[in-house]
Amino acid sequence: MFTRPFLVSAMLCGLAAAQPAQAQDAGAGERIAQNWCSRCHVVDSGQQKGGSDAVPTFSSIARRASTSQASLTVFLATPHRGMPDFNLTRAEIQNVVAYILSLRDRP
Ligand code: HEC
Repeated sequence: MFTRPFLVSAMLCGLAAAQPAQAQDAGAGERIAQNWCSRCHVVDSGQQKGGSDAVPTFSSIARRASTSQASLTVFLATPHRGMPDFNLTRAEIQNVVAYILSLRDRP
């Protein structure tokens, strides 16, 4: 049917518009991860360079049973050994956390 794709995209637009302004943005989180984190971490499965065997990949972090939105948020808000303090804003942390958790469902 010709009208179907239009209807679906209209519905998706409606959904996107209904998101509150503070909503987590995994896409923005992915950009932060690529710019700032990929020097040490493998942040996505297509990554060709950067990353180190000594540092957990984002996808392995996402798959750990102990990983949750709360655990990642606390981790990223606290400076720790081996990782520079990026001074991420709360919104940036939320976006990176959303991105990392989104890797759970990817191959
Ligand atoms: C300079 C290298 C470096 C950069 C850049 C870096 N990390 Fe890390 N990260 C590490 C190391 C090393 C560890 C392991 C720390 C440990 O085990 O104590 C780690 C651990 C982590 C963990 C926790 C894994 C666990 O064991 O629970 C998370 C989450 C994380 N990094 C997220 C990030 C994010 C998000 C960024 C980008 C904003 C980032 N890292 C940038 C080096 C880095």
